[in-house]
Amino acid sequence: MDNRGYANGIRHFIDTDAFTKEEILDIANLSLKIKNCIKNGYNPPLLKGKTLGMIFQQSSTRTRVSFETAMEQLGGHAQYLGPGMIQLGGHETIGDTGRVLSQLIDIVMARVIAHKTVVDLADACTIPVLNGMSDWNHPTQEIGDLCTILENLPKGKKLEDVKVVFAGDGTQVCASLGMLCTKLGMTFVQYGPKANFMQENLKCLSDPNYAYPDYIEIMEKNCKESGGSYLITDDREAVKGADFIYTDVWYGLYESETPKEERVAKFQAYQVNRELMQLGNLGCKFMHCLPATRGEDVTDEVADSEISLCWDEAGNRLTAMRGLLVYLTQYQREQAPTELQQACAKEQLEKFMAERGIN
Ligand code: CP
Repeated sequence: MDNRGYANGIRHFIDTDAFTKEEILDIANLSLKIKNCIKNGYNPPLLKGKTLGMIFQQSSTRTRVSFETAMEQLGGHAQYLGPGMIQLGGHETIGDTGRVLSQLIDIVMARVIAHKTVVDLADACTIPVLNGMSDWNHPTQEIGDLCTILENLPKGKKLEDVKVVFAGDGTQVCASLGMLCTKLGMTFVQYGPKANFMQENLKCLSDPNYAYPDYIEIMEKNCKESGGSYLITDDREAVKGADFIYTDVWYGLYESETPKEERVAKFQAYQVNRELMQLGNLGCKFMHCLPATRGEDVTDEVADSEISLCWDEAGNRLTAMRGLLVYLTQYQREQAPTELQQACAKEQLEKFMAERGIN
């Protein structure tokens, strides 16, 4: 895959670094336009006749449900390909799986354990591939979060004036948020314990020779281009002036989960609670990708308050999926058959069937 997200002449959505600021804003604005359309009673059939394959190597609520609903609402169909349901992970390689799916469906998303898997899938596919979260990033979450931020911009501010503080563990959601904010010219802070700062030179678990792109290099480059800034710190002062305070769970989900006492000892000081929210600007809003561990990464008081956007964010996963699916399938338009080609194919089929007495 090249650095613009193309492989085999097809554009994939593996990370937002492959997209320009204008393209990311285009996707978010398309997503919001479709949202408005559906809210007003019209479901545009933009994915009519299209099938999405959804590969899940891990569990999911928001990603799975939002992709499937997005396809349904826009006239398409989604197939859930969960762990143990397809040959992947047995003797069929990710590359062969990609080549086969390209013959059977129109677009595919994958939630994977190792980021390399979704990159390899895109390299093999001749249909667009979306990254539904890897150990390196969570780009569909980024588009949903951008929609939520755009819908809740502080009065009188534009994106470039906004400060976003991520409190806690330097997860892939934290890294994705940092890459998004810096791309768009915003101010980004990770406020967390030193041992859990966003990692430089993150290692790939499945292949130690595979070099993951470096978050810090990407954010540096983004800031030079956009005028944004970033800070990774354990200094509580850095939370001051936040317009949005964001958090994620305090431990890796799945097999890398750490014991409760250990994570509480490490992260308690970074919990999003009333006191932390009060360091933000007047009107500062709370964000969380969810799932949340109530009483750990966020208190009930904040999660359930009027300043909490986490439920809107979950809704905007659907907003983002619709926009992304339409945006990526539009890239196929040039290769799509013309009306004349369709009419000729239909005529040939009808003639073939009529000659054989098939109705
Ligand atoms: N935020 C998110 O990706 O949620 P799921 O793991 O439920 O998909």
